[in-house]
Amino acid sequence: MSDLKKIKDDFLLKLEKKLSLSEINEIKTNLFGKNGLISSQFKKIGSISESEKKKFASELNLIKDELQNQINSKINEIQSEEINKKLKKEKVDITLPERTFVQGKIHPVSQTIDEISSIFSEIGFSVEEGPDVETEYNNFTALNTPDNHPARDMHDTFYLDEKKEKLLRTHTSPVQIRTMLKDKPPFKIIAPGRTYRSDSDQTHSPMFHQVEGLHIDKDINMGHLKGCLNYFIKEFFEVKKIKMRFRPSHFPFTEPSAEVDIGYEIKDGKIFIGEGDKWLEILGCGMVHPKVLKNVKVDSTKYQGYAFGIGIDRLAMLKYGINDLRAFFDCDYRWLNHFGFDPLDVPTNYRGLSR
Ligand code: PHE
Repeated sequence: MSDLKKIKDDFLLKLEKKLSLSEINEIKTNLFGKNGLISSQFKKIGSISESEKKKFASELNLIKDELQNQINSKINEIQSEEINKKLKKEKVDITLPERTFVQGKIHPVSQTIDEISSIFSEIGFSVEEGPDVETEYNNFTALNTPDNHPARDMHDTFYLDEKKEKLLRTHTSPVQIRTMLKDKPPFKIIAPGRTYRSDSDQTHSPMFHQVEGLHIDKDINMGHLKGCLNYFIKEFFEVKKIKMRFRPSHFPFTEPSAEVDIGYEIKDGKIFIGEGDKWLEILGCGMVHPKVLKNVKVDSTKYQGYAFGIGIDRLAMLKYGINDLRAFFDCDYRWLNHFGFDPLDVPTNYRGLSR
């Protein structure tokens, strides 16, 4: 048997077996690679006598084609087998039940903060933020709260070190200080955020939320404060009229100071804001004390203004009919599913009524 015939028979036999792609590629190199068996036969052609050359060359070409065809069809076979396997595995079973889609809810406090920010931004307030861990100076001293003031009592304040230099802010008012130290007047900001006091019952939680307001300019007076709060409360509760009263009060950082109550009434177990003869306290406010302005290097003979601090949780409770403040922070999914807001369907009309 000639060399060529032997090569052909040997390899056709090999190619009959079940082979992997890499085994076939190996055979391909053995035959047609640079020093492959068939390639070396082609190199021989030059040295063969003229009479034999033609026959040898044609036989060689035939064998080459046969082997090449066999290899190619083997490769095709393997590839289509793989594709079929894949298609079988990736088949979509349209009879399966659909997967349940769980969508989160927006916490009522976050929703309320968004609403408040949106209402104030419409009348030119921008939003500032401050840290929960504050210095004693920003939380008290700079706000004209002397050492012996009852607000400094251990019962109210969570101190974080023995020297009582660091604490969890007891109100958002230190953001007034931070804002005024950072920039030059005029200032027109609100600052929503978490606040902390050592207190816990149905209407008090050791962590709660406030929104601070501060408006300082050359000719701001109490009338502006009243107008601003009146606008805010009407927009927030979506009522056209509001009963509001300013009660004289005291805060070390404002003079004069007031607490603001809004009128409400309860009919058939439902609360109606803006009517009736009951009063509910919702915020503290006043004209910023000249000593506070001095502490932040604002000239109080040129600039003055008002500040207020609103309890956010209480507003949210009133607006959304929630009667235990502690539920806000229990992280109970069932509660959140009931009182939370669909992120794709939040109420959009909360600023609409008085316009
Ligand atoms: N910081 C005060 C409080 O927490 C509220 C307040 C803020 C009062 C700004 C006056 C001005 O009770």
